[in-house]
Amino acid sequence: MKVKSVGVVGLGGMGGVHIAGWQRLGVDVHGYDGLPEARARARDERGVTVHDDMESLLGAVDVVDVCTPTDAHHTVALAGIRAGRHVICEKPLTRTLAEADELIAAAREAGVQLHVAQVVRFFPEYAAAREAVVAGRIGTPAVLRLTREGGMPAGDRWYHDQARSGGIICDVMIHDIDFARWIAGDVVRVYAKTLRPAGPQGAHTHAYAILTHASGAISHLTASWARLKAPFRTSFELAGSEGMLDYATDQRPAVRTAPPELAFAGGWPTAEDPWAAELREFLAAIEDGTPPRVGAEDGRAALEIALAAVESAETGRAIELPTDESDTNLGTTTASAEVTSA
Ligand SMILES: NC(=O)c1ccc[n+]([C@@H]2O[C@H](COP(=O)([O-])OP(=O)(O)OC[C@H]3O[C@@H](n4cnc5c(N)ncnc54)[C@H](O)[C@@H]3O)[C@@H](O)[C@H]2O)c1
Repeated sequence: MKVKSVGVVGLGGMGGVHIAGWQRLGVDVHGYDGLPEARARARDERGVTVHDDMESLLGAVDVVDVCTPTDAHHTVALAGIRAGRHVICEKPLTRTLAEADELIAAAREAGVQLHVAQVVRFFPEYAAAREAVVAGRIGTPAVLRLTREGGMPAGDRWYHDQARSGGIICDVMIHDIDFARWIAGDVVRVYAKTLRPAGPQGAHTHAYAILTHASGAISHLTASWARLKAPFRTSFELAGSEGMLDYATDQRPAVRTAPPELAFAGGWPTAEDPWAAELREFLAAIEDGTPPRVGAEDGRAALEIALAAVESAETGRAIELPTDESDTNLGTTTASAEVTSA
């Protein structure tokens, strides 16, 4: 099918990023937000065709793109699926695992595609590192160190409510959880510590987690909203049996290798807009069936690990994850399919 129009639901920060991406791809953008002022802004400043309710939007578009706060993903995505629309959803796929399972089953039943915007797989340095790992350049991945740190989202927003956002682990660390799984495969055990301000609703603001992969590899993840008024930064260090890749957003050159001859002959890729790249890939999946590099099942797996990390932080126990056949195969199946097509 040719996608003519997309309906972005939730016209806040991420909604704006998606609108810009769709407009660059030449797709007609419609929008809906519960707040009239957000609708007016999208119409007046971005040229979006806005609707006063979801029904009207669903009647006008081929694809629904969910950019609401996390706790509304399930309801909005399910409405899109039930109306027979393909759905793209911001990360985390949903707030709970039961909601994720319901969405995946509903999409399968309705015969529509469901995509999750785990955007880190589309950042050129992260994508190139993954390509290098799959090509065997560092040997077998053994120790991963991943960080993602910035200030707390400003204002008294839904991010600050643990029940709505899932805190720093479900909102921020989930990016690196997905990346760790993409590099080293499925996770069987999680242990985490968090910092949480006083009060029943205060979201976890800083987290450290250790993931044990089925392969035996270990990932150390740090995610933080504690870098007050300092620039947002991310980093990875991927150590394997034959070498190492490391990268930090505040470091040049972009990706370093040890030993240096591990580097690709052509050097590392230059920057491209990862959000536009992910939307382009989802569009291709819907239009001609080309599988994207990340699927809804990957979004579910990342959420399962994130929720286990939250549980670990709250109970003080390490959490074991189920390792049934489909779970164990997921990361590696995706990996080999991509190597062949690369
Ligand atoms: N991939 C990334 O890099 C990235 C970055 C930031 C946020 N996010 C994700 O994007 C999502 C949105 O985050 P944000 O920062 O744009 O939030 P935001 O608060 O800036 O915007 C959310 C908008 O959704 C609207 N809204 C709330 N409930 C709604 C509903 N039921 N129907 C329609 N509109 C509704 C709000 O009025 C608001 O305008 C979150 O899931 C977040 O985790 C992803």
